[in-house]
Amino acid sequence: ISRVEPISVLDYEPLARERMHPAAWAYLCAGAEDEVTLRENRAAFERLRLVPRVLRGVSAPDLRTTVLGTPVEAPVLVAPMGVHGLAHPEGECASARGAGEAGTLMAVSTVSSRSIEEVSACATGPLWFQLYVYRSRGLAERLVRRAERAGCRALVLTADSPRWGRKERFLRVAGSLPPGADAASIDSEVGEEDLAPAALTWEDVAWLRSVSSLPVVLKGVLHPEDAVLAVEHGAAGIVVSNHGGRQLDGAPASIEALPAVVEAVAGASGGRAEVYLDGGVRRGTDVLKALALGARAVFVGRPVLWGLAVGGAEGVRRVLGLLRGELEHAMALCGQASVGGLDPELVSRGAR
Ligand code: FNR
Repeated sequence: ISRVEPISVLDYEPLARERMHPAAWAYLCAGAEDEVTLRENRAAFERLRLVPRVLRGVSAPDLRTTVLGTPVEAPVLVAPMGVHGLAHPEGECASARGAGEAGTLMAVSTVSSRSIEEVSACATGPLWFQLYVYRSRGLAERLVRRAERAGCRALVLTADSPRWGRKERFLRVAGSLPPGADAASIDSEVGEEDLAPAALTWEDVAWLRSVSSLPVVLKGVLHPEDAVLAVEHGAAGIVVSNHGGRQLDGAPASIEALPAVVEAVAGASGGRAEVYLDGGVRRGTDVLKALALGARAVFVGRPVLWGLAVGGAEGVRRVLGLLRGELEHAMALCGQASVGGLDPELVSRGAR
């Protein structure tokens, strides 16, 4: 183990690997099938160029923003991920503290290893609740009630998972997950067969809005026409996401899908939805590219679990702090004073 403090988010990856069970590690890393989309999430960011503006007198860029009205110190949020207990015994309790200390919000997964009530009791910052709807609608409704009571401020409905992606990298090394992978919020009223994913429709978005007054964010949208439908069905936010390359292999990189979704949402009648992005965000410059192309904020997935495995809540805070620091630095170098209203011209596809 290096004694040198990690100086970038990617430095956490090998350190986390040393600390995690090989099956848990394979599960965390895995993309679906050949992992084309997983690689493309990174490659597509690397193909984009930032074209800086100069002599604008920017010394201290302002990173603060709001997401659905909730203030955050920087537009870098924690993506919903299942079973943080695979990375650290304190699981989501530690990550929620790390996120809060970094001044940002965390989306708690339906399949968290600590119950939504426990996470909320530990949290030092705002929480959203990510909902997987299984065959048992009763379970979904009970989870929504509990998320509301626990103080979650939005419901993130994951739309890209009518069945689970085949994570072959994981299946090759293990048939099942090691200890730490229990889904603590799933109550005992449901049987195994109730936990198959439901084949959701747009009516289910209306259903979710009818059972809760919390804003609904639709996660896993890549097609601009789906973005329009999301707005028409009352989504308050949209996460442009391919689930970190874990669902449909061959789906486009999320940063490539973003501009068309942003345009569609802007053109949708009465469209006020906020657009977020996740997938492959590892550098402050990635965040800046996404913001310039119209995202209000980004979600970060795997790096949060790397930080959690290496240093618990403090590791999560540091990973988020590194991204925040890099974003601030990149904005200064690009002559950008604040994260609102960045010009898409800041990003160029570069020479082909
Ligand atoms: C996920 N993701 C996910 N998404 C979701 O809606 N509910 C969930 O329970 C999970 N669980 C989960 C577990 C693990 C181990 C990973 C890596 C991912 C997807 C996640 O929210 C997000 O879309 C991606 O992780 C973003 O990509 P990066 O940042 O990991 O590249």
